Amino acid sequence: MDRILVNGGVRLKGEVKISGAKNAALPIMAASILCDGPVGSATFLAGRHRGHGTASVQPGGRGAGTRRGRMTISPQTLRWQEAPYDLVRKMRASFFVLGPLVGKYGHARVSMPGGCAIGTRPVDIHLKALSELGVELRVEHGYVEAETLTGRVLGNRVVLEFPSVGATENALMAAVLAKGTSELCNVAREPEIADLADFLNSCGAKIHGQGTDTLVIEGVDRLSGGTYSIIPDRIEAGTLAIAAALTRGNVRLVGAVADHMRALIDRLREAGVAVMEEPDALHVIGPDELVAIDEVTTRPYPGFPTDMQAQLMALLSIAKGTSVIKETIFENRFMHTSELCRMGADISVDGACAVVRGVPKLSGSPVMASDLRASAALVLAGLVAEGETEILRVYHLDRGYERLDAKLAGLGARVRRVSGKANGHMAAVVP
Ligand code: EPZ
Repeated sequence: MDRILVNGGVRLKGEVKISGAKNAALPIMAASILCDGPVGSATFLAGRHRGHGTASVQPGGRGAGTRRGRMTISPQTLRWQEAPYDLVRKMRASFFVLGPLVGKYGHARVSMPGGCAIGTRPVDIHLKALSELGVELRVEHGYVEAETLTGRVLGNRVVLEFPSVGATENALMAAVLAKGTSELCNVAREPEIADLADFLNSCGAKIHGQGTDTLVIEGVDRLSGGTYSIIPDRIEAGTLAIAAALTRGNVRLVGAVADHMRALIDRLREAGVAVMEEPDALHVIGPDELVAIDEVTTRPYPGFPTDMQAQLMALLSIAKGTSVIKETIFENRFMHTSELCRMGADISVDGACAVVRGVPKLSGSPVMASDLRASAALVLAGLVAEGETEILRVYHLDRGYERLDAKLAGLGARVRRVSGKANGHMAAVVP
């Protein structure tokens, strides 16, 4: 298993290009199932989709995982309408194929995704929405068996009990080829959902209401293929913005969309960070002294994103004063606090609330990543800690960032990835 070594104390400088949004790429890949023609999209997660049973997925360009990762999906040769446990357990977002499979073929067999480190991650809201769209669902032996009663999803008015991102996306994709019109209410408003809707509309769907809490979908008979560029990743941009802020750096985030990051930008400014909005970039300058934020509560978009909670905690751990962070989206998303405390942070957790008392400095330590955003927070803390921080289990980080270590090194950070292949000793050090 790869490790990342970080030696703190460098002020980051320069500019870095923001990659395509992971949380837009995943549903858009699933949505390609609905199309009758090839779909080309710029993403860096192509490799994750390969062999999913949808048609061959050949990375166009220079293949998955490259800076300009491009991917072509040819759904017309889809071989089966099943997402097996072995795949879904490795990537929860594979559950997003349920809506498009049942919308396109009238039936699907998809493994229940199960929980993960940050929470139980139930899918009851997904299933309730699909059943209200005329889909008969049985859950047995760990699988969802889905069958449309009339061979086709039926348009209907559906009200989600909570604006779940995944449930919104599954219901939206199921409704696109439905008979009749659907109105999905109390839906999630994340930019990635608008991107999914815009992608589907570019293939011939008729979706209105992007960015609001109600989506209206007029069912159509078929979708063509197409080429689509995915929005920049607001969470990667936010993570790099905090890297600049923490290290008193001066960094331009090329491609970052300020309008997708309002809640974070407001908080960074409150902490004393200078954030300048440019037409195609965000320019971030870290202050000599960061200031604590009285209270930050994670909320559905456009509220403060739960996916930035761990990274903000790393920043507040060295801010002057005491901050309170409340996590309202996931029930177990404070696992980074114990590792940050091992680096010298002063954080106490009581249920969904973390009290962060700023300390003058952190000290480099060996730490263990537990989930995607927790691992990002540990890398960020290492950038400002005295000495060397070794982050283990970086596969968590690679699930959501396109070589974050290389991007940080490109800004001057002393960050090195050590391949885990050479039985334990310092193997080839990848810059
Ligand atoms: C998406 O997960 C994102 N993942 C998550 O990003 C993100 O944290 C989350 O939305 C919230 O913004 C992708 O887009 C691939 P939810 P999702 O359904 O769809 C409860 C990252 O770090 N809930 O909005 O699974 C659920 O338990 C990842 O990039 C139900 O109770 O999130 C949670 O408490 C992590 N029943 C809350 O709603 C359901 O049927 C929000 O979940 C569905 C959800």
